[in-house]
Amino acid sequence: LHVAVLMGGLSSEREVSLSSGKGCADALEGQVAKVSRVDAGRDLAQVLAELKPDVVLNALHGEWGEDGCVQGILETLQIPYSHSGLLASALTMDKDKTKAVLRAAGVEVPGGGLFDRHEVASRHVIPPPYVIKPNAEGSSVGVYLVPEGANGPQAEVGAPDWTYGEEVMVEPYVPGKELCVTVLGEATGPRALTVTDITPVKGFYDYEAKYAPGGSVHKLPADLPPAVFERAMRESELAHRALGCRGVSRSDFRYDDVKDVLVLLEVNTQPGMTPTSLVPEQAAYCGMAYKDLVRWMVEDASC
Ligand code: DAL
Ligand code: MG
Repeated sequence: LHVAVLMGGLSSEREVSLSSGKGCADALEGQVAKVSRVDAGRDLAQVLAELKPDVVLNALHGEWGEDGCVQGILETLQIPYSHSGLLASALTMDKDKTKAVLRAAGVEVPGGGLFDRHEVASRHVIPPPYVIKPNAEGSSVGVYLVPEGANGPQAEVGAPDWTYGEEVMVEPYVPGKELCVTVLGEATGPRALTVTDITPVKGFYDYEAKYAPGGSVHKLPADLPPAVFERAMRESELAHRALGCRGVSRSDFRYDDVKDVLVLLEVNTQPGMTPTSLVPEQAAYCGMAYKDLVRWMVEDASC
């Protein structure tokens, strides 16, 4: 079997993807006949047409690689690929539309919504504390927490060099715990692995906390009331199904342990596979080594 691992790409998460891709490609060496490492650029269709892999393992993150564009190229070339298809990829990349679908499926999501970025930069569009984030980015790129009692909202959002779109998501900040759940889309249906409780060493779970070794502490399984643990597991499976995801997905939650409120923030269709990433850690906890997880992704690929 010849597997092409797509990595790098064109998004702000390029470095993360190079790390995910290296991990996946290294894990496949010796497990399949041939591994090609492809730094995916605008000539991807041509590169793949010449390379003629049997399967693509998509290790791209963010814009273009996670939002349906690359999935469309792979559909057109009729090359089986890992993770979600075109529609689920495009849908989950849009945080606002994802929330609408999840709400309709009965999953609790944060309030707030999309606002013009200049309006957000000039006044509090909702009472602090709240979170400002691009509608279609990953790895906490461009995310700001506006704390209670803040004088003004985040000026960066109104700056001329803001590159994350004219509309930004503004959501009430949910205090408490950051949780995540990996789901494997198995033949019998989506299966949640476990719940991790993430504590950033300082500040919130931002880019640095996500990828610097020791930037955050992961507790798995999370120490939660059993009913909350169970709800996070079932809602992740429900979200995977409602959004039409395939292969691996990861749902991210906030849990306010004082008010006992659990909200699903977003679903990631191309979750990180770096050395500090949550999905491989959960798989290992469930007895599935990194290389077995990557092989499963290849076996699950289709188009
Ligand atoms: N966007 C990053 C890669 C993640 O969700 O893990
Ligand atoms: Mg994300």
